[in-house]
Amino acid sequence: MKLLLAGGAGFIGSYLATQLIEEGYDYDVMDLLWFGNNLPEGTKVINKDIFKCQEEDLQGYDQVIFLAGLSNDPMAEYNPALNFISNGALPSYLAYIAKRAGVRRFIYASSCSIYGYAVNKLYTEEDPVTCDYPYGISKLQGERGVMQLKSDEFSVIALRQGTVCGWSPRMRFDLIVNTMFKTSVKDQKIIVNNPSIWRPIYGIHDCAHAYIRAVQADLSISGVYNVTSDNFTVGQVAEIVKDEVERLYNKKIKLEIKNIQDFRNYKVSIEKAKTELGFCPQTSINDIVSEISNHYESYGDFEDDNFYNIRKFKEINLSY
Ligand SMILES: NC(=O)c1ccc[n+]([C@@H]2O[C@H](COP(=O)([O-])OP(=O)(O)OC[C@H]3O[C@@H](n4cnc5c(N)ncnc54)[C@H](O)[C@@H]3O)[C@@H](O)[C@H]2O)c1
Repeated sequence: MKLLLAGGAGFIGSYLATQLIEEGYDYDVMDLLWFGNNLPEGTKVINKDIFKCQEEDLQGYDQVIFLAGLSNDPMAEYNPALNFISNGALPSYLAYIAKRAGVRRFIYASSCSIYGYAVNKLYTEEDPVTCDYPYGISKLQGERGVMQLKSDEFSVIALRQGTVCGWSPRMRFDLIVNTMFKTSVKDQKIIVNNPSIWRPIYGIHDCAHAYIRAVQADLSISGVYNVTSDNFTVGQVAEIVKDEVERLYNKKIKLEIKNIQDFRNYKVSIEKAKTELGFCPQTSINDIVSEISNHYESYGDFEDDNFYNIRKFKEINLSY
């Protein structure tokens, strides 16, 4: 089976590639390399804008995994027009030409961000989505665009992911657990903007496992699936990171609690993914922290612009 990882040189794709190799899959990556190339040696990288991709570029692939676009709120708010194009139109365009090229399955990196400010219950895929900010709206548009194309010959799976955290060869320090780890080690403190807000936290190893389960699922399966390791309040996340860093580094970490209003608050049920895809998350926040800590040598400088999407994005200064 041959896979194409579109946007596969990013945080998720660079880690997923290592897991695909372990599982014996053959894959190529198409990516503009905004954050460089940290993919495993031997990976075929097509350095190309997905918008320039034609039907013939997709021939020969069995499945396409879409991991591209603008991947957080600050990028989306910095350039809302490009955000709506890259997150709404781009996946729809790629799924459209993939279907025409005879690809059998399209897997879309959706986000739990689409749930917006939810009431405090576990959200299922059937619950209403209420986001009214650029990133959430555009991810929902992308999801609806690709799901529209599902048919008996073309399976479409959208994975609504929690906030993916952990170590990847393409590192990010702008993701909740990763940021808390950084500030604990660097400044001996964690700033908690709002301790009562809920977030699904998703270990990158579980995230790669979900993509592999989606690739392996029977081709008759299509659908939208919530995927995460577990749900926590931001206050709980901070407590766990604090304890783990104190244990690992023998340092005292201070929590600085604020009460800043957040426009995102959600926790999700992953029962559908467990039942239909055999998704089985195993990563704890403690595991995420020790993984990042174990790879300290590989990133060293916490302040490299490549680790912060918004910094790099401003540097690249793209227009639409
Ligand atoms: N990281 C998370 O916590 C998270 C959570 C939910 C959903 N997602 C979604 O998962 C996907 C991957 O996230 P990530 O953290 O790996 O992001 P990332 O920013 O690390 O990687 C995105 C990659 O896409 C490439 N890219 C962007 N536009 C492109 C284009 N037009 N043509 C070719 N390449 C292009 C970039 O060069 C980059 O390598 C994104 O779609 C994101 O919205 C991420």
